[in-house]
Amino acid sequence: MNPPASPETTPDRGALRRRLADRLAAAGDLRSPPWRAAVESVPREVFAPEWFERVDTEHGTMWSPVLGDAATPERVYEDTTLVTQLDDKVRPRDVAGPVFGTPSSSSTLPGLVVGMLEDLRVEDGDRVLEIGSGTGYSTALLARRLGDDRVTSIEVDPETARRAASALKATGLEPHLVVGDGLDGVPDRAPYDRLIATCSVREIPRPWLEQSRPGTIVLANLTGWLYAFGQTRLTVTEPGHAIGEFLPGTVSFMVARRHAPPGLDTRAALAADTPGRPTDLGPAILRDWAGRFVVQGALPTAQHVTMQVGNGPFLDHLLDADGSHATLLPQQDGSWNVREGGPRRLWNLAEQAVTCWRAQGAPPVDAFRMSITPDRQTIHLPDDSLTWELPHS
Ligand SMILES: C[S@@+](CC[C@H](N)C(=O)[O-])C[C@H]1O[C@@H](n2cnc3c(N)ncnc32)[C@H](O)[C@@H]1O
Repeated sequence: MNPPASPETTPDRGALRRRLADRLAAAGDLRSPPWRAAVESVPREVFAPEWFERVDTEHGTMWSPVLGDAATPERVYEDTTLVTQLDDKVRPRDVAGPVFGTPSSSSTLPGLVVGMLEDLRVEDGDRVLEIGSGTGYSTALLARRLGDDRVTSIEVDPETARRAASALKATGLEPHLVVGDGLDGVPDRAPYDRLIATCSVREIPRPWLEQSRPGTIVLANLTGWLYAFGQTRLTVTEPGHAIGEFLPGTVSFMVARRHAPPGLDTRAALAADTPGRPTDLGPAILRDWAGRFVVQGALPTAQHVTMQVGNGPFLDHLLDADGSHATLLPQQDGSWNVREGGPRRLWNLAEQAVTCWRAQGAPPVDAFRMSITPDRQTIHLPDDSLTWELPHS
């Protein structure tokens, strides 16, 4: 164990916060004095006193608890995400060493949080709804910037929400906190001038639009069951209608609980053994940020898994709940075959979408637009040469 810190060795938290603000400004994430003032005054260590550190092992990703003396202020003020919960319940103090698990709550890296708050174009006096309070750190930045009364934050996990509330209180902040499903919004406090989601969604939930007014800005991370992401900023134009853009960058968030994909049945794909047909589209498209986004648009209910049968090679499979499946098979000459089965030819649909996207010059995600009417939500290129409708969740 380290000796207790003496006053001389205790780092000056104010200096650490200023240094963080300088770094975020240099990176272009922090762009205005009001958000700088918020970053310089919110003590992140109160919101993330312990966390999990990622450890890549030969068996896969594990999470190692960081707490006590190891959770130093210097580390808290690094521009990194601090994972605070695994599998909807496990906290760092619950485990003695590295464990497997899926992150379910975190303090998102400050650069991303602050960059999003800047992208939200908040103005003095705005009433903001935040979906996904998490540790409460971003809620605290909002409350410092706008005042407690103008900030509402909703968190689905009661234990996470309870800890965020006590951290906010310890910091002298009391925004309006709600425990519940943020996909339903918080109607009692509507209308909002700004909505910001720190979990990703498969479509923009109708209640968010109903709880807006013309001119409201909605900033959300859009995803799907292929886990392709796009950060969208929408402006509500009239009740139930919005138009928006996708912002540059490669932002991804954990999926809002009700929008997460269902369990998969892999049996049909693994049992199939035909040689398949040649395809010009290899699985690399699924590792391309924009290419994957386009395939997800064409196949909104498909999921991607990489699996091995026996000692065979790891293969990429697309699987759909309707029983359709496609498996990419590497050939000795470096080309690809695809083996498809079930009611729909999944890879054929992916090929058509990718061909169309490439014909337009393979534009990045931020070239796309989003349009919402009460009946449908579409993602499209500005000239509508490529367009798809989002599924209702
Ligand atoms: C990335 S964390 C939030 C980070 C947070 N803003 C911060 O700065 O600490 C995402 C949070 O969204 C929450 N969440 C997931 N689905 C939700 C939903 N449907 N409604 C509200 N919160 C949700 C998770 O429990 C998690 O705490």
